Amino acid sequence: MPQGKTLCVEVEGREVLVCHTAEGYFAVENQCTHAQARLCEGKLKGHRILCPLHGAAFDIRDGTALTRPASAPLKTYVARVIGDAIEVLFDRGEY
Ligand code: FES
Repeated sequence: MPQGKTLCVEVEGREVLVCHTAEGYFAVENQCTHAQARLCEGKLKGHRILCPLHGAAFDIRDGTALTRPASAPLKTYVARVIGDAIEVLFDRGEY
């Protein structure tokens, strides 16, 4: 997965967007908090993901909504690289 790219994966009914940045891998929910657009159709710029529908920006490191019209943060997940796999930690504490 090249730096600057994203990958949408579905696990147990949840869509998660994995993002590879210069700061490492991050994982966030794939749904914009404004009007539920799929963020995998937006653009990753540095540590920001831009919503394809109305252009809100989110910080993928902590989920913060950086610009309107979004105001609520994205849910974030811990991501780590083990060998050639990317693992995402879900709520129950398992990768
Ligand atoms: S749906 Fe994402 S900014 Fe409106």
